[in-house]
This record gives sequence, C-alpha cells and structure tokens, in this order.
Amino acid sequence: MEKLYEGKAKIVYQSNEPDKVVIYFKDEATAFNAQKRDVIEGKGILNNKISSIFFDLLEKNGIPTHFVKQLSDREMLAYKTQIIPVEVVVRNLATGSIVKRLGIQEKTPFEPPLIEFYLKNDQLGDPIICHQHILALNLASEEEIETIKNLALRVNDVLKDFLKKLDIILVDFKLEFGRKNDGTIVVADEISPDTCRFWDAKTGERMDKDRFRLNLGDLSKFYEEVLRRLSYAKS
Ligand code: TMP
Repeated sequence: MEKLYEGKAKIVYQSNEPDKVVIYFKDEATAFNAQKRDVIEGKGILNNKISSIFFDLLEKNGIPTHFVKQLSDREMLAYKTQIIPVEVVVRNLATGSIVKRLGIQEKTPFEPPLIEFYLKNDQLGDPIICHQHILALNLASEEEIETIKNLALRVNDVLKDFLKKLDIILVDFKLEFGRKNDGTIVVADEISPDTCRFWDAKTGERMDKDRFRLNLGDLSKFYEEVLRRLSYAKS
C-alpha cells in the first residue's frame, strides 16, 4: 500500500478505493511534543479497537466521522479527508495545561464545557489559538468553525453520557476534524485514551495517557480496562 503520511502514533496508507485510507496504529507513545518517547507493546491495538467503538457510537448518534470500519487489530478503514490543522480540546473539568496556564483550581467544572483551539504544528509546540487566528490563518471558514464547535459539543454529550454508565468520567479530550471530498466536515483522527482523559468514577484512577505523561505506569492495564468496559457496554 502507498504510504500517504506518517505521524507519531499512526501511519496512513492509500486503500484500494480512491476516497478511502487505511490507518495503521503504532505502539509509539510520545508526550510533551515528543520530548518524552517510548514504545508500549500493544498500545496501537488497544487504541484502534477503542477508537473504532467510539466512532461507531458517534455515527449511531448521527455525528459524521471519517470512520468506515475496523479492518484488523491495528488497522481502520476511513474516508480520506483533508485534515484541518487545528486541535480542538473540550474540557469538562480543569486539569492539565489549563491549570498551569491560567492558575485554575484542579477539577474546577466547566459548565458549559470549554472549547479551546490549538494550532497543529509540532515545530511551534501546538500553540493555543482563538477563533480569529483560525480565520486569519485561513485554516477554516466562519461557517466551518461554527460546525466544528457544534460537533465538538455533541461528541462531548454522547461520549460523556455513554462513559458515565461505565463509571468513567470524561474529563477532557482532543478532536481533529477533516474535510471530505464534498467539503463535509467530519470527526477524524482517533478518539482513544491517548487523546482523552478518563478518570475511574469510583477510584479516581487515571485510565489514559497521563499514566505515561506522569510516569504512573501500568498504561496497558488501564487501556485494557477501558476497552473491557466499552466492549461490555456494546454486547
Ligand atoms: P492538555 O491539558 O495537555 O492541554 O490536554 C487536553 C486534552 O487533549 C487531553 O485530553 C489530552 C489531549 N491531548 C492530545 O490528544 N494531544 C496533545 O498533543 C495534547 C497536548 C493533549
């Protein structure tokens, strides 16, 4: 298969159909703009399976995504999109970079949920940007930004309610959006414990990539537990 793009955690290949790609999930873990790196055996498999379940759930709730189907342990078939280089973060509770940046108390609830934009640019360290920057840099139109915000909040509603039933608190997460050939905006990239913060509602344990970022250990064990609860909910 022709390789179209390789990122830190995934490789994108051209599929047999011109409008679709195969996304291969790698085991590489990076944090702090790739200053911290490791390989965690099996992480790619867990993220592919978890992402596939989430995308399927969003589609069933009428939210357009790039997802077509899970192909194998590490591969997903998806519509080819032009990725909008903006990382969209939705926060329900304050933690992570916002606590450091704004001096907010840990766990402060955001109601309504907070939406933030970051420029997807590793060389610049993904700086935070606002609506006007997106327009000024010509990254998306006014109408597209509105669509992205609405979709981000709908994704939050669907995932938060679903995870709550599994005793998982959706603290925050990052989405990427893409334009399909016809210009439709869809949720793209991945939705996994690498790109979300999940806290166990009963124990408060972190069940996401903060285990790697903060050297807490046992990453695979907690990703497996997320997958176990999701699979249980599905069946
Ligand atoms: P932050 O608190 O570090 O800004 O992270 C907010 C959310 O975005 C959190 O769920 C982790 C996710 N995230 C990514 O998916 N990729 C990134 O590069 C960063 C910095 C955060």
